[in-house]
Amino acid sequence: AATETWSSASGSILLGVIGCPILQSKSPVMHNAGLKALGIPGAYVPLHVNPDKVGETIQAIRTLNFRGINVTIPHKLAVIEHLDRVDPAAEAIGAVNTIVNDNGILTGYNTDGIGYVRSLKSEAISDLSGRKIMVIGAGGAARGIIDALLQENPASIIIVNRDEEKARRLAVSWSSRGDIKGIGFDQIRGCIGGTDILINTTSVGMHPSVDEMPVDPDIIPEGIVVSDLIYNPLHTRLLLESRKRRGCNIHGGVGMFLYQGAYALEYWTGMPAPIDVMREALMSSLG
Ligand code: ATR
Repeated sequence: AATETWSSASGSILLGVIGCPILQSKSPVMHNAGLKALGIPGAYVPLHVNPDKVGETIQAIRTLNFRGINVTIPHKLAVIEHLDRVDPAAEAIGAVNTIVNDNGILTGYNTDGIGYVRSLKSEAISDLSGRKIMVIGAGGAARGIIDALLQENPASIIIVNRDEEKARRLAVSWSSRGDIKGIGFDQIRGCIGGTDILINTTSVGMHPSVDEMPVDPDIIPEGIVVSDLIYNPLHTRLLLESRKRRGCNIHGGVGMFLYQGAYALEYWTGMPAPIDVMREALMSSLG
């Protein structure tokens, strides 16, 4: 069915990513390598879209018969009202990063959270069931990840946020799906004991010269998994220090980026994504 949609008229598949800014995006290089490895003729292009042009752009996607679009900052929420359907998980998360065009019917998905979990399981810890997880941050990225983590039957999830109320509200809204609570940074010390996996979803650590770490590594339980969504730098100070001082098993954000893209490519083509080729293209573009 997928083949009919994308190759019917032009014989090739059109894909792209909308964002503002967009020049820095590593998606085109990763997906074009993926398409090539799959032997599918087509192209994945970066599209700079200003916030006031989101609706027109989505209409243009239909007109030009793009098979798929990725959505990045700052449009992940704004695209939703322009789509025909939204996957329930993406709806709950409140963010769409992948759009699939089936003959003019556009459906929005969120592959960030499931991409993250696929990466975590394949690169750091294969079974998440019964694990105690602490997530730092309560924004869009955290919501995607928590939704996906809850599908893995963890023992508990603690959300830590600077704006503590936001963490609490998020926890309450998902309380029917598991043992989940929200706290402020001042409560980390009292709650971190017994944690198996610590995940930073905030931007703290993205600018190594100025940023502090979101948590003092000295209070992290020894030998646990410490994960950071940031992939540039490949390893944040939080990861390096928790490995050095606490012997932690560290997991950076590149895999999340890779697998969110892999899921998207699978949705668009109906074929298994060529993970190794995509990873290699991504790593060489990161330098
Ligand atoms: P994203 O989609 O990347 O999650 P977001 O929705 O804007 O972006 O959410 C950013 C998250 O990082 C929030 O949890 C934010 O905390 P607040 O809700 O208290 O604002 C967190 N964050 C950003 N900068 C931070 C900082 N310097 N220290 C602690 N938390 C920070």
